[in-house]
Amino acid sequence: MTIITTIQKETILIVDDEEPVRRPLRKLLAKNGYSCLEADSASAALQRLSDTPIDLTILDIMMPQKSGIELLPEIKEQYPDTAIVMATAVVEPDIIIECMKNGAMDYIRKPFKLDTVVGNLETVLRKRQLSQTLKIFQESLKGKVAEQAAEMRQLFFGAIESLICALEAKDKYTAGHSRRVGDFTIAIARLMDIPVVELEDIRCGALLHDVGKIAINPDIQNKPGKLTEEEYKYIMTHVQIGANIVKSIANEKIVDIIRYHHTRFDGACKDQTLCGTHIPLCARIVTLADAFDAMTSERSYRKSLALEEAISEVKRCAGTQFDPAIVEVFLKIPSNDILTIMKTS
Ligand SMILES: [Fe+2]
Repeated sequence: MTIITTIQKETILIVDDEEPVRRPLRKLLAKNGYSCLEADSASAALQRLSDTPIDLTILDIMMPQKSGIELLPEIKEQYPDTAIVMATAVVEPDIIIECMKNGAMDYIRKPFKLDTVVGNLETVLRKRQLSQTLKIFQESLKGKVAEQAAEMRQLFFGAIESLICALEAKDKYTAGHSRRVGDFTIAIARLMDIPVVELEDIRCGALLHDVGKIAINPDIQNKPGKLTEEEYKYIMTHVQIGANIVKSIANEKIVDIIRYHHTRFDGACKDQTLCGTHIPLCARIVTLADAFDAMTSERSYRKSLALEEAISEVKRCAGTQFDPAIVEVFLKIPSNDILTIMKTS
């Protein structure tokens, strides 16, 4: 017995070129609470689908002009959320299999058995509902995971930045170094028209460039006088240590900045694996920003250079320590901006 209900349920589109086939089915579905639309051809079906959200489409296989088999992939591509049930007078397994492969969820025989067709369609609609709920759940889960990962990343970087700044603040020679390197780096990157979306990573890499120094003995790092070759090599391990610290949570750009910020453009250091423009661009920018800040800051083993002297040194090292193209950009930063960054502590 057919259950009659007044609750408005899903919308069903009946696509069939024969009006005597559509009419009784429409009547039956309407009695069962479904909202029904009809289309007598493939083009009319596409028009209905574009006008109204359709939950289920009953698609006649044999239609003049364009068959249901041809129309099926078009509907699936344009309206993937509509469930499709093929309607056919003759059950040919190959055709049914092809329709299922192309996205049909079921098929019903013509002439329709009115006592069972509603049950068949109801099953298809519940399957569709389940898969849509699952899709929404998966999407929201994906969003939440991404949101939490971004939050964790921010917290991690924030904690490292605080640690670096705290360590630097304890040492009069390095106080504010990472922040100033971050500011010089951004000043250069902006003049190079680096996309705004990339600036955050570049700034982060610049702030964290010396994170590996956490593991370096401060007595050796701040040793007055010239370092021995061994001591220099030991201090330089901070680039690899730093890259290892952040690599599980930072992206490649940030890790590259940390790993290559002491890599010379001319490849003169015998241990370096990259040189010239093979060194990642963001690392080449930080190399200059880092060295410039070091020059203009006092160190345990030497006095700071004045602005003009430091600029001459940067020019002298273009093509050797630094990428000459980046030196050229750096020289375009207004002196007042450089002086403001130099005062940051
Ligand atoms: Fe460094």
